[in-house]
Amino acid sequence: MEWMDARMPVTKVWNEHLAEYMAPKNFNFWYYFGSLAILMLVIQLLTGIFLTMHYKPDAALAFASVEYIMRDVPFGWLIRYMHSTGASAFFVIVYLHMFRGVIYGSHREPREMVWLIGCVIFVALMAEAFMGYLLPWGNMSYWGAQVIISLFDVIPFVGPSLTEWIRGDFVISDATLNRFFAFHVILLPLILVALVFLHLVALHHVGSNNPDGIDIYDELDEDGHPKDGIPFHPYYTVKDLVGVCGFLIIYMGVIFFFPDMGGILLEKDNFAPANPLQTPPDIVPLWYFTPFYSILRASTETLLQFFAYSSVIIAVAAAIFTKFKLPVRAGFIILGLIAAVVFMNSSGKAWGVILMAAAIVCFFLLPWLDRSPVKSIRYRSLPFKVALAIFLVAFFILGYLGMNAPTPIKTLMAQVCTCIYFAFFILMPWFTSIGKTKPLPTRVTVKEH
Ligand code: HEM
Repeated sequence: MEWMDARMPVTKVWNEHLAEYMAPKNFNFWYYFGSLAILMLVIQLLTGIFLTMHYKPDAALAFASVEYIMRDVPFGWLIRYMHSTGASAFFVIVYLHMFRGVIYGSHREPREMVWLIGCVIFVALMAEAFMGYLLPWGNMSYWGAQVIISLFDVIPFVGPSLTEWIRGDFVISDATLNRFFAFHVILLPLILVALVFLHLVALHHVGSNNPDGIDIYDELDEDGHPKDGIPFHPYYTVKDLVGVCGFLIIYMGVIFFFPDMGGILLEKDNFAPANPLQTPPDIVPLWYFTPFYSILRASTETLLQFFAYSSVIIAVAAAIFTKFKLPVRAGFIILGLIAAVVFMNSSGKAWGVILMAAAIVCFFLLPWLDRSPVKSIRYRSLPFKVALAIFLVAFFILGYLGMNAPTPIKTLMAQVCTCIYFAFFILMPWFTSIGKTKPLPTRVTVKEH
């Protein structure tokens, strides 16, 4: 080890980031998901390598090569199901990991960079999953890619040329499959690994938050260690192993007993090869995209009319009820009218794309929208808890609606939930600064076992 340490700081890095990295001693269930996300990344990379050994990125051979992996390659079915179920498991874990961040205020100062890098990881993960989904060259792969790529059409001036450039052809074709394969197996995995590395560098620079949302790095003992900190290794390596075991039981249970989950993890239409002449009855993405897909579909002419009327009403209300000078209040009305004209004269599809993109951008803004004097939900005021609960219900309903064909009533529900989704972020500076918060403890709370 001395020989090695003189040439490469192995012991130093081990100590700084594991054996002597002081983590708060009150981590709970919600803190399993960071290490599980790393586990999922590794599983996806390893199973992906083995799939690539037999998969053929060629429009004439791709579908059959996946069937060959499933039927003829020894344990090919296991590797493929680990990868396909793995994609969904990865998203379950990342959604829970993000939710933990929101409930304990981990996105707040000084962890904004950890959160922002996390948000970029989320976008990269969505791109990785989207491109991977084209590779089996099933009918839903084909039409899903067709729908999503054609969204770029709405970009003014460059839209149509851009979609053609992304596809590499006038339609989704072999050229598209080849480039998606390159992005899926090399570019995005490299980006993801680099981002996860930066995520952890940023986290270890500022230290971990905890379920009480208070800073443990203020109260130090005589050795300069936080009084409420314990070394990450062995305490949390062992705790995380429990999480890994629990997770593997569920993950393997799904792989062995419900690998397609009745069409939720592997869609029924994807068991038929891509057919440019036959559109599936309902083109729907996999569950992890459906909340955002619902927001995209919710944008109809009716919703835009609602937005137009609302902008005028809000502008008039602001002009009447605020105490600004007269020219400013007149400005509100002009702005409201301009917004109304823009909404009335633009297409539902274009706004769908804008709203879908905005739905993701909202997460990036969270550290600055949240104004609560406390971080953890344990001490937050009632308005935040109520708003979060309503947001969660809306998010789940959007997810459910996105899995189904739209009907007039479902579209209306999606529109209401879309409004709730955005209201949560727009009103956040207000509802996080009202209501009575509970007093913060000076030391973290730990239940003795
Ligand atoms: C490949 C995906 C990801 C991996 C491998 C990953 C990994 C980790 C790990 C190992 C930790 C430390 C352990 C823990 O606190 O649970 C962590 C913390 C954190 N992550 Fe991630 N993460 C990922 C995605 C995300 C995303 C998408 C977000 C948010 C948009 C995010 C936000 C955070 C935050 C705020 C913390 C600090 C939590 C705290 O100290 O309370 N991460 N991440």
